Amino acid sequence: MATHVITGAGSGIGAAVARRLHARGDQLVLHARDAGRAKELAAEFPGARTLVGDLAEPERLSWAFSHQSLPDRVDSLLHVAGVVDLGPVGELTPKTWRHQLDVNLIAPAELTRHFLPQLRAARGHVLFVNSGSGLNAHAGWSAYAASKHGLKALADALREEEHGNGVRVTTVYPGRTASPMQAKVHQQEGKEYDPAKWIDPESVATAILMALDLPRDAEVNDLTVRPGR
Ligand SMILES: NC(=O)c1ccc[n+]([C@@H]2O[C@H](COP(=O)([O-])OP(=O)(O)OC[C@H]3O[C@@H](n4cnc5c(N)ncnc54)[C@H](OP(=O)(O)O)[C@@H]3O)[C@@H](O)[C@H]2O)c1
Repeated sequence: MATHVITGAGSGIGAAVARRLHARGDQLVLHARDAGRAKELAAEFPGARTLVGDLAEPERLSWAFSHQSLPDRVDSLLHVAGVVDLGPVGELTPKTWRHQLDVNLIAPAELTRHFLPQLRAARGHVLFVNSGSGLNAHAGWSAYAASKHGLKALADALREEEHGNGVRVTTVYPGRTASPMQAKVHQQEGKEYDPAKWIDPESVATAILMALDLPRDAEVNDLTVRPGR
């Protein structure tokens, strides 16, 4: 039975992925920002283990994990958690920049560092949920896009580094997806939010599972998923 470590499993795309993997009986290790959130996730996904640490404080993750039992086996590490805050460069403060870089880029690097020994042992898979903003930066999106461009760099370098160890690395680049994050984006853009106009998180989950389940003779490096309507 495969063991998956998942961030962001409490909402949107991450929740859709976790539900699919849980339904088919895979072992889940669900990351949560704090103990209260971990309790909620444990109740929602019976049998799942949890792992607590605030991604907004990547330098403290190592300490937090040293006080918890980590899984011996990790077949996949799914980086799904993320945050967004829009604003023109002229108005974005260092705090806003740092928060997005910490959660979206540095925390995934730190989590990957932590689980690489187990991933190598299992000849496992690291999957990053990036964004169209990881490929193109538009007005108002600088800090988020910078964090996601950085995440692309992390994934591409990791793929080359770990290829010889049998670790596969995939980046998925979704377009706008109906989730609490997209509702916030619309609010910040001053637009009305209609979830029916955007990708269903279940469709992104389907793309992610395809990449995970692909036979070992092949590896999905990059997968762009755009709204179809
Ligand atoms: N929605 C879109 O249009 C869209 C498009 C392209 C890419 N993406 C990317 O897709 C991924 C998932 O986004 P989503 O739309 O599903 O967003 P979402 O519904 O807002 O979920 C984000 C998840 O990240 C977790 N998270 C945020 N800050 C955290 C922290 N400090 N520590 C631990 N966990 C934290 C949240 O935890 P809680 O549950 O505790 O709040 C939540 O589970 C993100 O990486 C996002 O950048 C989204």
